[in-house]
Amino acid sequence: MLDLVMGLPRMVAEAWALSADPPVPPMRPEVVVTLGLGGSGIGGDLLRSVLADEAPFPVIGVKDYRAPAFLSRDALVLACSYSGGTEETLTAYEQAVSAGASCVVITSGGDLLERARRRGHPAVVVPKGLPPRAALAYLFIPMLAVLHRAGAVRSFEAEVRDAARLDADRYRARAEGLAGRLVERIPVIYSATPFLEPVAQRWKDQLNENAKTFAVWNTFPELNHNETVGWGVDGSLARSLHVIILHDRAQPARLGQRVAITKEIAFHRAGGLDEFTSEGEHKLSRLLSLILLGDLVSWSLAIKRDVDPTPVAVIDELKRRLAAQP
Ligand code: F6R
Repeated sequence: MLDLVMGLPRMVAEAWALSADPPVPPMRPEVVVTLGLGGSGIGGDLLRSVLADEAPFPVIGVKDYRAPAFLSRDALVLACSYSGGTEETLTAYEQAVSAGASCVVITSGGDLLERARRRGHPAVVVPKGLPPRAALAYLFIPMLAVLHRAGAVRSFEAEVRDAARLDADRYRARAEGLAGRLVERIPVIYSATPFLEPVAQRWKDQLNENAKTFAVWNTFPELNHNETVGWGVDGSLARSLHVIILHDRAQPARLGQRVAITKEIAFHRAGGLDEFTSEGEHKLSRLLSLILLGDLVSWSLAIKRDVDPTPVAVIDELKRRLAAQP
């Protein structure tokens, strides 16, 4: 798992070069809908963050059996499942097909690939044999590449090159230091800006799956309108929480002011608090620098908790038991 986590920058470069077969035809979608759960869902969330301030169409992430009722021929659906066997994604994909949407799949194989091949839908086939969450770059970057090659968004090549230069070794000591402070605490991850929402969620997911620990996430400014009041909990409960605030180096100053005040009036009750700021020139490296740090924290916390970061026995058992109840 450590090798896979450290390999994120390399995978970003490889993933930009993956192409769809058959190629994606030119298109100007009115809406882009991503389908995918867990490690295969976060790519859609990252896509929304990257394109929110520049694309002429909305990006909507679906983590459900149901595709949205508004799907039509003008929609592009990116169906993503690493294994190709996730039932929610397969069910929503069938509905997207019935609605006449253009569909592209991103997968390493399985039923999703078979169905796409049968229908002649473009498929980006990613390298096999990884835990899905460790294949994040392969599942996310092709979404941008597909949209670019269809003529729907600009090229992200310069941003990909910038992200591929992230130096994982530089993050390792910082990650191990934080992991040491998280032992026997519940991590509470807050993004200082909605741009980093999927990063906060990724931190939580990786802490769940790699470190096998409970964690929660939320984002500014929304949390100022509800969760900030929740910090009125009992003192011993508040001390079991460790706040991690993720800042974007390009976030509006007003959000920084919100964070500073909230620290004074609410988070001072937490057992600990750490803050990190994204690095890099462009949006992709700003997102991926903090993802790399969080992935390393989750790996390091697993080692400190003496658990194996790789298997996710509970997810496997749940899928097995569901499969036995058709
Ligand atoms: C496992 C993981 C899970 C899976 C999810 C969906 O590493 O991260 O969250 O990603 O159960 O499965 P796939 O990705 O095969 O569609």
